[in-house]
Amino acid sequence: MENKLKQMVILASDAIKKCKTINELMDVKALYLGKKSEFNTIMQDLKGLSDEEKPRIGKMVNEAKQAISALIEERKNHIDREKIDALLKEQTIDITLPGKKIAIGHKHILTKTIEEIEDIFVGLGYTIKEGPEIESDKYNFEMLNLPKDHPAREMQDSFYITEETLLRTHTSPVQVRSLLANTNQEPLKIICPGVVYRKDDDDQTHSHQFMQIEALVVDEKATLADLKGTLLLVAKKLFGENREIRLRPSYFPFTEPSVEVDVSCFKCNGIGCSMCKQTGWIEILGAGMVNNNVLKAAGYDTDKYQGFALGMGIERIAMLKYGIEDIRHLYTNDLRFNSQF
Ligand code: DAH
Repeated sequence: MENKLKQMVILASDAIKKCKTINELMDVKALYLGKKSEFNTIMQDLKGLSDEEKPRIGKMVNEAKQAISALIEERKNHIDREKIDALLKEQTIDITLPGKKIAIGHKHILTKTIEEIEDIFVGLGYTIKEGPEIESDKYNFEMLNLPKDHPAREMQDSFYITEETLLRTHTSPVQVRSLLANTNQEPLKIICPGVVYRKDDDDQTHSHQFMQIEALVVDEKATLADLKGTLLLVAKKLFGENREIRLRPSYFPFTEPSVEVDVSCFKCNGIGCSMCKQTGWIEILGAGMVNNNVLKAAGYDTDKYQGFALGMGIERIAMLKYGIEDIRHLYTNDLRFNSQF
């Protein structure tokens, strides 16, 4: 009997060692330790043994079963460990491989253009002033010499919120606000960048929302010559040292005289090309000497003070400078477009 038990433990041990999976191991376990195992048959046979033999053989059976149990447990741990080792091997991270590059963003071309224009003016001693986009009719029109029935209001088709409030149609109301805020009437030299709104149908060159930069200089001796010098400098800085400018008479209610400013074509140097429609000149902005009515409305003595102003569309400048053919590219945030600049 003793030998038989030993033999069983050896057989079980061999079978256990051969197990590669938990399932195989469970089958072996059922075979040796389950209800139908040979040990059970032996236990049944114990009944026929003498009283001295019973505990001795019983103990030996239990020891044999415990030994097999321990071997199964050990094998189970071994299989588990092998599984984990294989997984770890499969998922090893090679820390010597180069990492994934994080794409670094950059400023939008419109932002770059605004900052470029701001830098030019700040370099000339201007300070930056901002105003609200929801503006009163009074500041947007009336105090800029555009009374209620003025025909020039139609040039700027407006989004009205109430009869007296609208989305500003230009940055010129910031002129009025700055003049009114300058209670000591010290010399004023400001630029006002910002978003403006007009009831235009969106197309290649129009948008119901766009950006402008306004400049205003008021003191005791600002002249048209100063305006011209400023314009020439800005044109050269924006479009290249060889640029020339040309002033054409124009009309704005808030300036008198008013001019439209052309810059010599930076593509053909003024010879004539598709960019300048064969004229050699490209229109870039409107300007003029501040109309006395505007200064008076803000409480300025027009015998003492005078000034000049200008206003330009930022999108237009960006489109000219970077050869952008559709204004909508500036708003749709298509990375294929944005990342070119
Ligand atoms: N406010 C004008 C517009 O939106 C642009 C403009 C023209 C502004 C002449 C000025 C100026 O300050 O002097 O069409």
